[in-house]
Amino acid sequence: MNNPTKVIAIDGPSASGKSTVARKVAAGLGYRYVDSGALYRGIAWKAADSGCDVARNEDVVAAMGRMKVEFFEEAGAIRYRIDGVEPRAEIRTERVSGLVSLVAAMPEVRAQVTRWLRDMAQFGDLVMEGRDIGTVVFPGADAKFYLDASPEERARRRHAELKPAGETADVNRVMDSLKNRDQRDSGRATAPLKLAADAQVVDTTGLNIDQVVEVILKRLDKPLSKSSPPLS
Ligand code: CDP
Repeated sequence: MNNPTKVIAIDGPSASGKSTVARKVAAGLGYRYVDSGALYRGIAWKAADSGCDVARNEDVVAAMGRMKVEFFEEAGAIRYRIDGVEPRAEIRTERVSGLVSLVAAMPEVRAQVTRWLRDMAQFGDLVMEGRDIGTVVFPGADAKFYLDASPEERARRRHAELKPAGETADVNRVMDSLKNRDQRDSGRATAPLKLAADAQVVDTTGLNIDQVVEVILKRLDKPLSKSSPPLS
């Protein structure tokens, strides 16, 4: 094979636990963790910040063309800077969550992000999470998982994440926002969220993070490494 890099794809809807689980699975395997949604969020954030109308395809594509995006590896993850800045809390706001699925539905944006994600294989073995990793970005991934949870459980989890970040949305509003995003992500024409035929489904509703990680590592036939670095 030309590309000996291993890729584990973890897809699923909003707040299904993908990020924390994927980070821990990567640490357990000694692979690099990639949060593909952070790139879509970064483009939405930067485009909105530069004053462009994020509902207009050509404006977003022009803004994206002006962004200088660089990738680097740190603490077991592939991270990025846009125009010299690594976006963090600013891409996790409800405002950006409300804009991101518009931007992520644009074919030119998806084509660019997909190229960036595929190029990350040059860093080494990857655990990549998102919506279309097993279906579009790496259809030949070594293993594919699809995490899901009930809408109520997902809203509860996202609400609990937002509170310490100082966002005050109530749980019903969070559920509506997740539903809207799920609908846009599943209904778009280009690379919609869907289950890959060869993905293994894990319903995380009654499970905590470590139990989900254990299920995945067991299915990958690897015990959780005792020497994995602590996760922040
Ligand atoms: O907040 P949550 O974990 O649910 O989502 P995320 O992983 O941060 O992704 C944010 C948004 O980016 C999603 O709602 C999708 O619209 C988009 N996305 C995508 O289209 N394809 C991916 N591979 C990853 C994210």
